[in-house]
Amino acid sequence: MALRNILKEDDPTLRKRSREVPEINERILILLDDMKDTMREGAGVGLAAPQVGVLRRVFIASLGNDQEESELKEFIDPEIIEAEGEQEGDEGCLSVPGYVGTVKRPERIRIKYKDRQGDEKVEDFTDFDAVIVCHEFDHLEGVLYTDKAEDIREAVAGVQDEGETDI
Ligand code: CO
Repeated sequence: MALRNILKEDDPTLRKRSREVPEINERILILLDDMKDTMREGAGVGLAAPQVGVLRRVFIASLGNDQEESELKEFIDPEIIEAEGEQEGDEGCLSVPGYVGTVKRPERIRIKYKDRQGDEKVEDFTDFDAVIVCHEFDHLEGVLYTDKAEDIREAVAGVQDEGETDI
């Protein structure tokens, strides 16, 4: 396992569309493990492969709508197949350190994806979990939350309100 360098918002790689994973091989498994270490090191709750310079449709997210009981999930070739409702909340991003912004997201999403065994799964996520999943999915499309946020502002140092964790 190793830490990888997180690309920052002005890096053109973050603006490219990531490609499907043709085969879940050793390289992809190492990528997932490294992303886990890198996300935890940065105290984030989500990280997408393009953020570490790999343009593959892979992201990880710490889910559970509760930081203390969160579960780390890995998503390979995800597709958001349903979205409903609307919520608005603050987001940050490990690629845009020191800032937060308010973004509108669906209240509930249904996502189809493959896990590291290649098994296809369909799951629903709501509330902040839905926010994280949508934010990471956007990274695979070359979209940053700053494209959608209305009021990007500096995060207050030392104050990390709920919903202001970097994703
Ligand atoms: Co992000």
